[in-house]
Amino acid sequence: MELKLWGGRFTKQTDKLVHNFNASISFDQKFYKQDIDGSIAHVTMLAKQQILTDEERDTIIAALKDIKNEIAEGALVISPAYEDIHSFVEAMLIERTGETGKKLHTGRSRNDQVALDMKLYTRDEIKECDALLRDLLTVILSIMEKNTSTFMPGFTHLQKAQPLTLAHHFGAYFEMFKRDRSRLADIYKRMNTCPLGAGALAGTTYPLDRACTAELLGFDGPTLNSMDSVSDRDYLIELLGALSTIMMHLSRFSEEIIVWNTNEYQFIELDDAYSTGSSIMPQKKNPDIAELVRGKTGRVYGALMSLLTTMKGLPLAYNKDMQEDKELTFDAIDTTKGCIKLFTGMIQTMKINKPAMAKSARNGFTNATDAADYLVKHGVPFRDAHGIIGQLVLYGIENNKALDDLTLEEYKMISPVFEEDIYEAISLETCVNTRNTIGAPGVEAMKNVLALEKEYLDRT
Ligand code: ARG
Repeated sequence: MELKLWGGRFTKQTDKLVHNFNASISFDQKFYKQDIDGSIAHVTMLAKQQILTDEERDTIIAALKDIKNEIAEGALVISPAYEDIHSFVEAMLIERTGETGKKLHTGRSRNDQVALDMKLYTRDEIKECDALLRDLLTVILSIMEKNTSTFMPGFTHLQKAQPLTLAHHFGAYFEMFKRDRSRLADIYKRMNTCPLGAGALAGTTYPLDRACTAELLGFDGPTLNSMDSVSDRDYLIELLGALSTIMMHLSRFSEEIIVWNTNEYQFIELDDAYSTGSSIMPQKKNPDIAELVRGKTGRVYGALMSLLTTMKGLPLAYNKDMQEDKELTFDAIDTTKGCIKLFTGMIQTMKINKPAMAKSARNGFTNATDAADYLVKHGVPFRDAHGIIGQLVLYGIENNKALDDLTLEEYKMISPVFEEDIYEAISLETCVNTRNTIGAPGVEAMKNVLALEKEYLDRT
């Protein structure tokens, strides 16, 4: 069997090293299924346009389906002797159907074929990423629902700032992953045009019905310029951008999980099933999964930079450089999917240490703003109130006391405006639950947001 699709004008065999360097079969076999689905649509259209007979169509489609099933079951092994998955499938088809199979590639080039395969593959993967993000959001939402009164400090500059709740903190990530899903949906919508029929770069002389193949393959329509069709990799760059953003979000979340899981914080405890030990230090229980998610973010960013650089300065239309899109994209997709999945399991199984969070929110003067607001409500101008509470904080630090622990005499030492109701005004419950504007952590505000987020998940 001829291993190459293009031996005719050559007088020598390809050098072995050249074959290996040039070949893509080791990685493009990943989309054998999409390659065959594309061929089935192509042949269906060829018969409709009477370029092939119905009988030829049926013979080819039956053989292609067999090939697909056999590869899936492992009965047919993809051989690395072929240059790429397109050559392999065509060779297997010809082996089984002889002269008829040789007609499959009528009116098609590997350039539009690979452009199609990659789009079909990407579409499937976008759907999978979206489903994984949805699972993650479901877990985040269930943690939020159980923790609308789990008080914790909110941070700026990694310094305690104001108290809020775990539900509110996780709600921030809910919004991020929601945007990630909408970014994926945008990309899907923009890329969903079919390049099949663009040929090598200039279309074909056959009366192909490109709208027909586009429809058969679930595209919104055919692409409108044959040169662009075979050399557009924008959607992959966009996808790598979106995956990078997902990873950036996971990485920020991981960093917080790592910090919260430390002995110093003890806000959470990762499950044993999601932790690892040390070969020398028996006491260790390390958050390797969160660290790896954080670490792998660099790898996905790298793929984005790499493809942008590969595409830079490439003249129209197809150039072999573009083959480099595949390994990068496959790796970035697999990495991101793996990270979302593991991260979801990790937060689903971790224990939340509510008392440690509340204790931390109580120490560190997270209620200082509310104490100043108390004075404002009693007629003190805000700037003066800020100064008074600043003095109380300093006093508290020197005497190792939280604002809640100061006696009324100590308060009055600094300002006579304070009365017994100061304690109620600066309690964690008051600080959090009086913040009820849209998007704030108060339990009423959170209730509304939780309903909206739940509705969003039901809808999408
Ligand atoms: N393996 C190639 C790629 O991924 C397929 C297209 C080959 N086309 C060509 N003109 N050599 O880009």
